[in-house]
Amino acid sequence: MPSRSSGAMKTIRDFSEARRAARPIVMLTAYDALMARLVVQAGADAILVGDSVAMVAHGLPSTVEATLEMMVLHTAAVRRGAGACLIVADMPFGSYRKGRHAAADAAGALIQAGANAVKLEGVDGHEEVIPHLVSGGIPVMGHLGLLPQSVNLLGGYRMQGVSPVAAAKIEADARRLEQLGAFAVVLECVPAGLAGAVTRAIDIPTIGIGAGPETSGQILVLTDVLGLDDRFRPRFARRYLDGHAAVLTALHAYVEDVRTVRFPEAQCDPASA
Ligand code: KIV
Repeated sequence: MPSRSSGAMKTIRDFSEARRAARPIVMLTAYDALMARLVVQAGADAILVGDSVAMVAHGLPSTVEATLEMMVLHTAAVRRGAGACLIVADMPFGSYRKGRHAAADAAGALIQAGANAVKLEGVDGHEEVIPHLVSGGIPVMGHLGLLPQSVNLLGGYRMQGVSPVAAAKIEADARRLEQLGAFAVVLECVPAGLAGAVTRAIDIPTIGIGAGPETSGQILVLTDVLGLDDRFRPRFARRYLDGHAAVLTALHAYVEDVRTVRFPEAQCDPASA
């Protein structure tokens, strides 16, 4: 099928231009070349190689288990499918808490694997790391609200920024990220009103996930959009396909065809395949 749009962003400048033009920024995660190609063909603006890959593709219990090696491998695969589309790669757990030099090494490995920018969670403790990366030529996307890498501290995945104090902290952190040089901020699982207030308070784009419609753009995990996982269904994600049922129907048909010797066809000549 031909591409529905050639709107893939190439650089982080396209992010600020979209915000200025009030054009919603569309992001999806991807973890491999084939899915990256589909995301670009669908007309998304940018791809996140999220550390959610640890859970989605590796069956691990949380994003805390994502390693730099894993993120580099998937970033390189996504780049091979994404053409020139802007790719943001997640800095894995712990990789930006060992000082700015170690953080620059980790971020550099992701950039050399094909990312155009990196994303890291929170702001406390990263005051030196973020400007160090940015001044070294590595664009940084922030991530506030629900911080999945802090699940052991948070005790679960739940809405953040609900109390006035917590909301004020998120808004203040967004301002700090902007001052430190971040080019955009993901707002995950925060009330829509807070996401709107943060979006109006800063001059860089906000990308929402479970944060309502008032952000500069949206991101969803690709497998949630495709409905591939029958056991996990985040409330805020919209399913555009019952991918789990569709894939199972196709696979059942294949299994049945082999068992009943309807595949392969007797006359099929492998040389003409
Ligand atoms: O890892 C990921 O998929 C993410 C998104 C949920 C924003 O960080």
